[in-house]
Formats: sequence, C-alpha cells, structure tokens
Amino acid sequence: MNIHALLVNRFSEALVKLGVENAPVPVARSARPEFGEYQFNGAMALAKQLRKKPRDIAEDIVAAVSLDDIATKLEVAGPGFINIHISDAWLSTACEASLADARIGVSSAPEQTIVVDYSSPNLAKEMHVGHLRTTIIGDAVVKVLEFLGHKVIRQNHMGDWGTQFGMLLAHLSDKLAQEEVAETALSDLEDFYREAKVRFDEEEGFADRARDYVVKLQGGDEQCLALWKQFIDVSIAHSEEVYDKLNVSLKREDIMGESAYNPDLPKVIEDLQSQNLAVEDQGTQVVFIPELADKEGNPGVYIVQKSGGGYLYSTTDLAAMRYRSGTLRADRTLILTDARQAYHFKQTEIVGRKAGFMTEAQTYEHCPFGMMLGSDGKPFKTRTGGTVKLVELLDEAVERAGKLIAERDNDLSEQELADVARIVGIGAVKYADLSKNRTTDYMFNWDTMLSFEGNTAPYLQYAYTRIQSIFRKSGINADTLNVVIAIEDAKEHALAVQLLQFEEVIGVVSREATPHVLCTYLYELASAFMSFYEACPILKDDVSEPVRDSRLSLALLTANTLRQGLGLLGIETLEKM
Ligand code: ARG
Repeated sequence: MNIHALLVNRFSEALVKLGVENAPVPVARSARPEFGEYQFNGAMALAKQLRKKPRDIAEDIVAAVSLDDIATKLEVAGPGFINIHISDAWLSTACEASLADARIGVSSAPEQTIVVDYSSPNLAKEMHVGHLRTTIIGDAVVKVLEFLGHKVIRQNHMGDWGTQFGMLLAHLSDKLAQEEVAETALSDLEDFYREAKVRFDEEEGFADRARDYVVKLQGGDEQCLALWKQFIDVSIAHSEEVYDKLNVSLKREDIMGESAYNPDLPKVIEDLQSQNLAVEDQGTQVVFIPELADKEGNPGVYIVQKSGGGYLYSTTDLAAMRYRSGTLRADRTLILTDARQAYHFKQTEIVGRKAGFMTEAQTYEHCPFGMMLGSDGKPFKTRTGGTVKLVELLDEAVERAGKLIAERDNDLSEQELADVARIVGIGAVKYADLSKNRTTDYMFNWDTMLSFEGNTAPYLQYAYTRIQSIFRKSGINADTLNVVIAIEDAKEHALAVQLLQFEEVIGVVSREATPHVLCTYLYELASAFMSFYEACPILKDDVSEPVRDSRLSLALLTANTLRQGLGLLGIETLEKM
C-alpha cells in the first residue's frame, strides 16, 4: 500500500474535474498530528491559472476530491493547505491486507534492467575503509531494486590492471622463485606492495624489470598473464573474506574488472577519433569539453590516451559504459564511488553521450558519497596513521558487540552469544554507514553505532526481538493469529500510518539510491511501536481478546516490516538478544 501514491491519484482526478491538467500534485506528510497525516499543498500554485483565491481553490478541491473511503476529515488551513485526516477504519483494513501479503504491501514495479557498479576495490592493495561505504550502500541499493522486481546486474569494476602491476609481478616472480607459494607471499597485500615499492625506488635494475612486465602483460605474454592471474586470485580472495563477513551479496561472477575492457580500448579511441571528439594534444589523445569550461573559457580536458599509448581509467570507463548500455542493455547505470570522483564521471557521461555510447533514454547516475572520518574529524586512520584494514575493523566490531551483549541481562548460550555478537556487531557498522545521508562525510564512532538508544542497528534489532518475546509470552503463534485489526487509540493510529508508508519509502530509495531514507523510516517505525506499546498494553489481564489480537496483529506487521526493511539493508534480525 502506498498511501502517498493513492492520495496523489485522487487529487489528480479532482484537479482534472476542475479543468486542471498536468499540474504538479504536491502531497506531503503533515508536520504535526493535529494537521492530519498528509497535506495537499497545490492550491496556492493554481491561483494565477484559475484566477481565484488559493483558499477558494482549496475549497473547490475539497468538494471535488473523492476520499470518503480513506479520510474522515479534510480541512482547509492557512493560505490554502488541505489537511487530510486518515480514517481508522481504512487504516485497519489496509494493515490487514499488508499482513496477508508476503511482500507487506509492496508491489513489483515494471521491470527495468539496472546495472549497479559498486565495491570495485583495487586489487593491488588490501581493501580498506574507503571501500566500505560503496560496498555497503551499493549492496543495500541492489537489494531494494531487486525487491521491486527490477533486473539488477551487479558489476564489481575491480582495479585489476595498470602499470603498478609491473612492479608487483616482478616482486612476486622473485618470491615464487624462492619457492614461496603465492598465498603466503600475498598474505598481507599492504606489506607486499610496500616491499615492491621500496625495491622499485631503490634496487638497481628492478624498475626496468617492472616496466618490462607491464609491456609483457599488455602484450598478452602468457607466462606473465599466468603470474598476474595468480596475483589477482589471491587478492580477490581477500576481498571475498570481507564480503563474507559483511554478508554482502557480491559473487565472483559479478566481477567485471578493468582488465576485461582491455581489448576494447583501442576501439574506443578509434571511435572517438573518427567522430573528431578525441584530438592529439602534446602527444596525448584528449577530448575537450566546452560544457565544462572554466571561468576563462578554457574547456574541460579529458585525457583518453597517454603519450606512450597507454590507456587510462577514463578510457576503461567509456568502454564500460558502452558494454553496459549495449550488451547488458541497462536502462539505468548506477555507480557508487566517493565524491572525489564526481568530476570524472561527469566528464565520462558528457563524452560518452556525445560519442553515442549510450542512448538518450538510458541513464548514467554517479551516486557519490562523503568520506569516513575518525572521531577526530580527520580521515579514518589507524592510531599510527596507516590505512585501516576492513577485516580487522569488522573483527573488532564483533568483539565489541560481544562484550556489550555479555554485560546485559541475557539467557544466551555461548553459541547464541557468538551469533548475536556477529549479527549486532556487523549490523552496527553497516547501519552506521547506511543511516547517514551518503553525500556528506560521516564520523566513525564505536560508542554511538553500538548504542541501544537512538537511530542504530542495535536499537532496531532490539525492537524486533522485543516483539518476538511478546509473541513467546502470549503463547500465540504468529501463523495462527486471528487477524482482525480495529484501530482506536491515537498511538495505534500513528503506528498504522507509519506501517503503511513502507512502499513509498522503498520507492524513494530505488529512485535516489539513498538507503538512509529507509533507515530513518525504520527508526521512526520502531519508535512509533515503542510509544504504542507503552500506551496500549497487549498482554495485560484486562485487555479483551479482540483488542489483544488486533494489537498483536499490529505488532506482527511491525516485526515483518522491520525484518524486511533491515533485510534490504543487509542487516539480520534475531529472535533473542
Ligand atoms: N577502483 C576504483 C576505486 O577504488 C573504483 C571504481 C568505480 N567504478 C568505475 N566504473 N570507475 O576508486
């Protein structure tokens, strides 16, 4: 059920009756309960067109709109707002319908093909916190889109190619010659990278060997490719360890690394040249972008080939664009990287569109996010200033959650405690990230994210287990519960309105790739449930059976919505904690 969409529909019909076509139909949540739950704010904008006072227009709309089944009262307020008070009876029926539906009232949208490029770590190094946000946010977006019925194609655009592999392969071949196996040599990619770099800078002849490897790799030399493949495999396994701990849905088959586009790069340059888009400039191939000119009128500069003939990140992204729009037939392409790459993707889109690498109807949506900062407000680093390894960060989360849970009153076995620690710890890290508007920087803080108060994963997980325990105490099985909902109390009313907004929220997340909207929603839902539960006892002796069942039904729908919502965010729920 999407109350918002329903109201928009009814108001559009009313406007048509009044002779207004194609006008915007602004319906929004009311700021306060005394103004009803929703407000129609479109009367003011029609004053000119209809040559009437906004309040009179609002009165006409109230007379024309058919909302008898949904609303108990429509009132004109202020300069011409229409306040909509939703009826208890309608809410009751709508909640019953959601409860009977495995999709809790969310319909499947017409199917689009959507490519989501996320995670995409660089394989030369260990995955670090910079890749945490893209991985977590991307995975939530993918799950929401799939839930809506879209065909989603995950693309893990791993950085598995480029000149730095020359020195890494030279170093690796020496290690293997000393009879080390690749897994051991590469057990710590950070150390390995550092060693190779030192040799590159200091060791006589090593840099030449490294460059030699680059040439051989690009030339498709088999031995060299085999060595490269070994390196890549071990590095991918490191990433998979992180995905596994994070409960992220990326699989091997989702990897479409930079190397995959290598054969296509000369063709990209040719196409750009033949359309006079790429031109030579001091030995490099450049596309000038007048749309991105600076104040002095100098066009934006987008380099697509280096003077030695080497290709760049940009060239690969153009090839990726063409593959996604042409071969994968993506209606939308979403790319999740940090905000510092925004200009690159803007350039790529302009150039790619001019070159005809995608059609006008296909979208290219860079979804940027801010940096993860330490509690000191500076980029997140270890105490000694190094990059924080993701695996270690996640292990710490589980350990900290374990300690917290153990301190709380609980009757968990050792095995249960370990599971709870994992689910709460990982959930907390993911949720802390997901719940912030992604476009801003965010501060990583263990205490806030693991708190059982406020907009956190533990708070939501706790609300869910609380409902499970109400059911255990009631002795009533959720499957055999007699679902007849009769909303009477104001807190029941508020909870029901909140419950019925799930579909609307999912729609926003799918259009804007903003999981924080879903987080805010779930937090408000859990809070609405807590106030409801305080005001409306369920299992007390003086509560009649029909009232008990009605309230249990609302509790059950809350639990289902929390589980589904958290599930879409990639966060597990627990029966006990
Ligand atoms: N490997 C890049 C990085 O770590 C991210 C790649 C994002 N996707 C893309 N198509 N460029 O910054």
